[in-house]
Amino acid sequence: MQISFVAPPSRVQAGSWVVAASEGKALTVAAVKADKASGGALTRALKFSRFAGKSGEFLEVLAPEGLGASRILLVGLGKPSALDAKALEVIGAQIAARLESAGETAAMFEIEVPPVGKNRGGKIKGGEAAAHLAFGARLRGYSFEKYRTRNVEEFKRHLKSVSVATADAAAARRAWAGLEAVADGVILARDLVNEPPNILYPAEFARRAKALSKLGVKVEVLGEAEMKKQGFGALLGVGQGSERESQLVVLQWNGARKKGEPVAFVGKGVCFDSGGLSIKPSAGMMGMKGDMGGAAAVTGVMMALAKRKARVNAVGVIGLVENMPDGGAIRPDDVLTSLSGQTIEVLNTDAEGRLVLADALTYTQRRFKPRFIVDLATLTGAIVQTLGFEHAGVFANDDKLAERLSDAGRRTGERVWRLPLDPAYDKMIRSKIADVKNIGGANSGSITAAQFLMRFVEEGTVWAHLDIAGVAWQDGEQKPMIPSWGTGWGVKLLDRLVREHYES
Ligand code: BES
Ligand code: MN
Ligand code: ZN
Repeated sequence: MQISFVAPPSRVQAGSWVVAASEGKALTVAAVKADKASGGALTRALKFSRFAGKSGEFLEVLAPEGLGASRILLVGLGKPSALDAKALEVIGAQIAARLESAGETAAMFEIEVPPVGKNRGGKIKGGEAAAHLAFGARLRGYSFEKYRTRNVEEFKRHLKSVSVATADAAAARRAWAGLEAVADGVILARDLVNEPPNILYPAEFARRAKALSKLGVKVEVLGEAEMKKQGFGALLGVGQGSERESQLVVLQWNGARKKGEPVAFVGKGVCFDSGGLSIKPSAGMMGMKGDMGGAAAVTGVMMALAKRKARVNAVGVIGLVENMPDGGAIRPDDVLTSLSGQTIEVLNTDAEGRLVLADALTYTQRRFKPRFIVDLATLTGAIVQTLGFEHAGVFANDDKLAERLSDAGRRTGERVWRLPLDPAYDKMIRSKIADVKNIGGANSGSITAAQFLMRFVEEGTVWAHLDIAGVAWQDGEQKPMIPSWGTGWGVKLLDRLVREHYES
């Protein structure tokens, strides 16, 4: 999708002309202009419609006499006072979806945010508002069709160009430069999650991560021999039942003006989770190509930071494995020695993500002494039971980091909900023969998983864990900005966190 920002046109000669009204059918200046240009077609149509200007409402006038544009699409903005960046992104996405279903190929969005309050101009300035509209449209315009060979036309996107009219096109382009980088990161993360597991196995994921070196990201890949030498017993244990070689990828973006400790993101990258010998039932195994959603988000946010040249030092560490049940696989009852030196009694080989993260966390802390670590993992089915698809679970040993994540979540729409850590839960992962066991009891599964990870968080490390099992992919098309299976969840959130608090 081609995005451009232009000065408000006097008329639109081709494609759809998208204008807006706020609640109470209050037409914006551009809507009045489009109405006049169509000889009053819009006001006539309004008389015969239920359109009230509420958010999510549309009124379409097709091919009015004498107008070059193919249609006028009137979109409801709701209450202008509620229009912030996130709301505008949703509106941009809704418009893109609507135009797509109409088979439209080009559009001019001319949607000024109506003035609000005394200072006029509301919560967001015109140029920035335009960029956020484009961001929503761009994310909604995503689709993943590379494995279709028949009826491609039916599935592929038709909306090829979106021009956003704004009185401050220069400001819009500046804002877009940053947002486009984030959109690219989200799209990379979606692509990685959507790829089938016979194509995207650990070495292939690592290859794709290596491509970030073109953006100035330093990329290192550790294979099994190197990890064995260094003692990654937990991560390698998970991968040992697979034909595919396990990998650890380390991504570094050094964009700060000064040297200094980086922020760190750690991702679970289980390219396929069969459960191992504790094998999953058929229904539960479907979709487990997406069990690398945490690693995908980490890769996506590193792309976003590099593309927008963020003034921050950041590292991304992703543990890539395939959890399979061959004759060499780990068994329930095995004891593994992790990179930290702690021993782990494996009682269920399907609780593998925490084993991968344990070593990745140790490695990240020992090598980088980061300002904080946020790990992302499709870690437990229990978090889906608890929070469904609306929030990721967040666990943290630091209130400030937890609060910052919650706030970034509210602003981006990638919302998180904090759950507790407590020594009482930690008791549930005591092992009879080793330092820790990899499962808790029947209850509070997301919490005991987080307690397990905390065993590998060293004194002084500021840490948060995001359990994203409910949000990394979605089955239908419930969310306006997400047309695909892989959501790319986490890229927007982490970019926002960095932008707001950690850039110099
Ligand atoms: N990858 C799964 C968690 C998962 C489940 C993600 C459903 C997305 C949707 C994880 O490796 C897993 O299997 N967890 C087990 C842990 C249990 C064995 C303690 C689970 O949640 O059942
Ligand atoms: Mn599992
Ligand atoms: Zn898993």
